[in-house]
Amino acid sequence: MKKYRQTGPSTVDSEYSALLLSWYALQGRDLPWRCTRDPYRIWISEVILQQTRVAQGTAYYLRFMERFPDVAALAGASEDEVLKCWQGLGYYSRARNLHAAARRIVSCFDGVFPVEYADVRSLPGIGDYTASAICSIAYDAPYAVLDGNVFRVLSRLFDLDWPIDTTAGRRAFLQLAEAMLDQTRPGLYNQAVMDFGAICCLPVQPHCTDCPLQARCLSFAAGHVSVRPVKRIRAKVEPRYFNYLIIECGSELLLHRREGKDIWRGLYEFPLIETSQPMEYLELVRTEPFHALFEDVEEWQFLESTLMPIHQLSHQAIHAVFYRIKVDQWSEAMRRLCVVDRSRLDDYAVPRLIERYLSR
Ligand code: ADE
Repeated sequence: MKKYRQTGPSTVDSEYSALLLSWYALQGRDLPWRCTRDPYRIWISEVILQQTRVAQGTAYYLRFMERFPDVAALAGASEDEVLKCWQGLGYYSRARNLHAAARRIVSCFDGVFPVEYADVRSLPGIGDYTASAICSIAYDAPYAVLDGNVFRVLSRLFDLDWPIDTTAGRRAFLQLAEAMLDQTRPGLYNQAVMDFGAICCLPVQPHCTDCPLQARCLSFAAGHVSVRPVKRIRAKVEPRYFNYLIIECGSELLLHRREGKDIWRGLYEFPLIETSQPMEYLELVRTEPFHALFEDVEEWQFLESTLMPIHQLSHQAIHAVFYRIKVDQWSEAMRRLCVVDRSRLDDYAVPRLIERYLSR
């Protein structure tokens, strides 16, 4: 494996962390999970913030805390309730893992959030980043966090071209982050770097002129700020074509719970026919899954179709069309799905794409 250490900074003095901590004291954000050392609250906030911006995540955090104030409340809830509270945040495996981890804490740790790093790391959905964040912020344990903000700050400060998407690159960054860590205040320091990346050392148009580290920033001196950090592998985006059938009978319509192993598992959606190409309605009605669903329906009425803007995920671009179709009675196959009154739709956790369609 390629080693990057030899090209990194030879020494890291404590001046960096002193500058970051004084910047944080003045500019750090006052966020609701920062007034506590409760590991449960810190855990929830970190999981929400893994793939969500602070501006959007804060409202979810507050709602989640009100609904599930502690491990026992979360473990005692059903997965459906947890997913409903998470609806709209995306990456639903986070919610499923929170729920599974809360149950594990009850069964293996007497309901008390574990203290040892290895125990925290063993919980579902908790990787190195989250375990380090929880242990440093809640317990002041000396674990350095590595997230997108930290990669950006370190790669710019030391003008590093280490790729952040390879194992060797990440390992080298971790060593550097550990060397930078303020051992006496690791939790404060970790939050300072993350906030610094989120507020000052921005991905585009960073605030270099106001930056307290500008005089020490090697990328700034070299004119490399806009090309740090470096990635080696470009994510391939796969197009997918979703044809959703909103089948209506009086005030009722059909949903089904998504099973199988994907990001929407456990969420509810309209019956879906996925095709390998974009498909017109007249072609769609000739497909096998459409036939299976409409087999003993004598008559149905096509009402309208809605083409949605492309729904961009990290590795997928979803091209979705929603078809509203009216039937006079449910077929056998339809009856096997969930028949739901339109007025109760809100009770079901649905993927963001469907939420967008419903709120048009
Ligand atoms: N992003 C993820 N966790 C964070 C934290 N604790 N502070 C600031 N930004 C974050």
